[in-house]
Amino acid sequence: MTEKTKTTPNTYVTKPFLAPLKDYNDLLKDIWDCGILTNDGQFVNRFENLICKKFGLSNYITFSSGTTALQAAIKGLQLEGEIITTAFTWIATVSAIKNERCKPIFCDIDEDTLNIDIKKIENHITDKTVAIMPVHVFGNPCDIDGIKKIANRYRLKVIYDAAHAIGSEYNGKSILSYGDVSVLSTHATKLLNTGEGGGCVAGKKIITEKLKGIRFFGYNKDKSDIQFDGLNGKLTELQSALGIVNLKYIDKVISDRKIKYQYYYSALRDIPALSFQKIEFGKTNYSYFPIIIESKKKLFKLIDKLNNHNIYPRRYFYPSVNIFKNIVDSDERKISEKVANHVLCLPLFYDLDFDIIDQIISLVKKEI
Ligand SMILES: Cc1ncc(COP(=O)(O)O)c(C=O)c1O
Repeated sequence: MTEKTKTTPNTYVTKPFLAPLKDYNDLLKDIWDCGILTNDGQFVNRFENLICKKFGLSNYITFSSGTTALQAAIKGLQLEGEIITTAFTWIATVSAIKNERCKPIFCDIDEDTLNIDIKKIENHITDKTVAIMPVHVFGNPCDIDGIKKIANRYRLKVIYDAAHAIGSEYNGKSILSYGDVSVLSTHATKLLNTGEGGGCVAGKKIITEKLKGIRFFGYNKDKSDIQFDGLNGKLTELQSALGIVNLKYIDKVISDRKIKYQYYYSALRDIPALSFQKIEFGKTNYSYFPIIIESKKKLFKLIDKLNNHNIYPRRYFYPSVNIFKNIVDSDERKISEKVANHVLCLPLFYDLDFDIIDQIISLVKKEI
């Protein structure tokens, strides 16, 4: 390792966006003064209203994580049976289904969009199927109209795992406004973060109310009775305040990523051994910059070279979730496994310096 690389700080695939500390401190003072840390406080309500206003949503119910929000959505829709989801996702999609005692059934993906292949969904529908849970992978919108047609034909519910997808759009509307429930993550790595956190947007008011009850131990509205199997799924006032200050910068965060994403893409697009995620439906939020490398040998060589320069891209999602044999029962999903074995997400975040991007680009060009 050279002297220069020894002293270079590490660059990871992402870095949490943090609003200026002063913005957060001002809100913390209010929390200290009023002494309420959780349970339907002023900041959680304010955060939910601000998200609705910003993205044109009729409701947004915060949760302690995206995973809890997915579980609450399954509870809220009272699903029991098989849920068809994609094999190319983070394990949380699968564990939420399993934790709610439903069975995940993996559908393979479209090799271009990296989202669930809607031409294959019907092959997995049985008399036990109750819902479809597609993922807007890396913020790339699914074919929502196509999925709706299938769901209507078989009377299935749709829960969108929109964990990555804040700011993405479909037909000119927030991606979160589609499906029976759409689920967001506001984990530290997401474009809008509350440290840990998540939320649901429900298509029907009755489900919004149910989700609020489920979030608070299953209580009914006046807290006189337990109406549902509940969770402690609350986002705290401290997390909500962080969300409020970070939300002010979301447009800036997305446009900065767009510039960097396009910079990478125009530098790498002509390399024959690389392929890229295709944005076919709606607008992405540029959450990640995944490259798919034809040769696995080259993938590992590139990772090594980048690591030698203190740059840590991420094999994400890897592996394809259908191969976790200890927890799921599934046979192979060829395309998802192939993509998972060859994908590499390059660093992309707000503070990322163009010098580092140039260094990454030149290493990719050299190694691939
Ligand atoms: C596709 C997907 N679904 C669900 C989740 C879970 O979100 P959380 O980490 O907020 O529980 C993640 C987290 O990264 C994710 O990538």
